[in-house]
Amino acid sequence: MKRAFLVVGNRAWTKPFSLNDIPGAGRMDVLCRCVSQSLFISHGIRRNVNVFLLLLGEPDPPKVVRIDGGSVKRMSPDERNVAGHLRKALGVECGEEWVKVHSGVYVARKSPAELLRELSGDYSVYYLREDGEDIREVVPSLKNPLFVLGDHTGLHEDIERIVMEMSAKTVKVSPLSLMAEQCITIVHYELDRLHF
Ligand SMILES: C[S@@+](CC[C@H](N)C(=O)[O-])C[C@H]1O[C@@H](n2cnc3c(N)ncnc32)[C@H](O)[C@@H]1O
Repeated sequence: MKRAFLVVGNRAWTKPFSLNDIPGAGRMDVLCRCVSQSLFISHGIRRNVNVFLLLLGEPDPPKVVRIDGGSVKRMSPDERNVAGHLRKALGVECGEEWVKVHSGVYVARKSPAELLRELSGDYSVYYLREDGEDIREVVPSLKNPLFVLGDHTGLHEDIERIVMEMSAKTVKVSPLSLMAEQCITIVHYELDRLHF
């Protein structure tokens, strides 16, 4: 079963940024940690996982970076390394079709609605939100799930509306409001318990 995560970076820059100030690029650090938690295990990579980062910050939104766990190369879990890949992707000219940056990393220009429409052809969409259904109730029925998360500021109203329209369910992973990357770790944990 494949899994995917879509993280919305409300202010994440859409041009190359300095690796010496990753948080300063619209909290790109949050997105880097989400990539890391989505893809990496100890001494390995989850080949069945794809990550989509929807970048909505200045100066050229919207852009989406896609990282395919099945084919990505030369990526390591540390924030700076992941940021280097994102930085490179943001330097590549792109339109509505995916452009390959290098093995397993792609970039495109897609609105939230276009992106979700495309992804809902391949995945069942679930919105991770603090007031959703308990993930333990939901996991047994999940098939090729894609989980949508906000960054440190959550999902803004206009995007949340689109996500809610396209989601099968809203799912919670904890009674507490957690950091996005922590939610990803918990989702993997719950799915791994069932499938391995
Ligand atoms: C740091 S939280 C955002 C908090 C922000 N203040 C808000 O009100 O949305 C980042 C994202 O993690 C997810 N999240 C956080 N806690 C969660 C929980 N207990 N269950 C499910 N998703 C959660 C949501 O998708 C949220 O947008």
